[in-house]
Amino acid sequence: MRTPINILITAGPTREAIDPVRYISNRSSGKMGYAVARVAIERGHRVHLISGPVSLTAPEGAILKQVVTADEMLRAVEEHFPWCRALVMCAAVADWRPRRVATQKIKKGDRCLSLELEPTVDILGHVAQAKGNRLLVGFAAETDMPEEHAVAKLKFKNLDFIVANDVSRQDAGFEVDTNAAVLMGADGRREVWPLMSKHAMAGLIVDLIETESN
Ligand code: PMT
Repeated sequence: MRTPINILITAGPTREAIDPVRYISNRSSGKMGYAVARVAIERGHRVHLISGPVSLTAPEGAILKQVVTADEMLRAVEEHFPWCRALVMCAAVADWRPRRVATQKIKKGDRCLSLELEPTVDILGHVAQAKGNRLLVGFAAETDMPEEHAVAKLKFKNLDFIVANDVSRQDAGFEVDTNAAVLMGADGRREVWPLMSKHAMAGLIVDLIETESN
């Protein structure tokens, strides 16, 4: 019988409002993060799942917190971070949000519309300051030089592991049921994870958490 581990998982996109009817977001479906939550529950772990807007059903047994914006996700992660032994940050959090949100629908016109965007808080970087002995697993969604960019994020965000996702592939990353990645560790580890189902990759991530949380 395995000792249950407290695992905090984020999934899906965030949405940043432009006006009451429009937003900027990204293509995350939540499938990868929900798969990690499902496998963790199947293995008897305790799961808090913080999810952006997706059309998936949370696995039974996971405690779901639904959020919309990067700011809401930050607050939810901050709230549950002290509880967790491992954080898996699979969500595609918006890096920028409109600096001003129009209170009324912006009327269509013939001229170009410029949006001024301001950076959101880096959730991983923020909570990593109070890391303690927690295991931090990030993802990196990249369209070029995935390993180089991922290793920079691993160091900058003070992570234990990062899953480098080449999202320029049609069969990996956003929306699809499969993924392929390279796992990179702060300990110098590098494992190539070939194309597999997101469920299978979730299994590898939970294996990692089980091994590293001992
Ligand atoms: O949801 P799916 O359709 O199944 O797609 C899965 C996925 C492609 C979204 C997933 O596999 C993935 O790669 N998730 C990370 C997406 C991302 O935001 O990558 P990034 O390289 O921009 O960010 C690096 C890390 O920092 C991520 O762990 C991210 O959650 C985190 N981050 C990013 C921005 C921010 N403001 N705060 C953060 O903590």
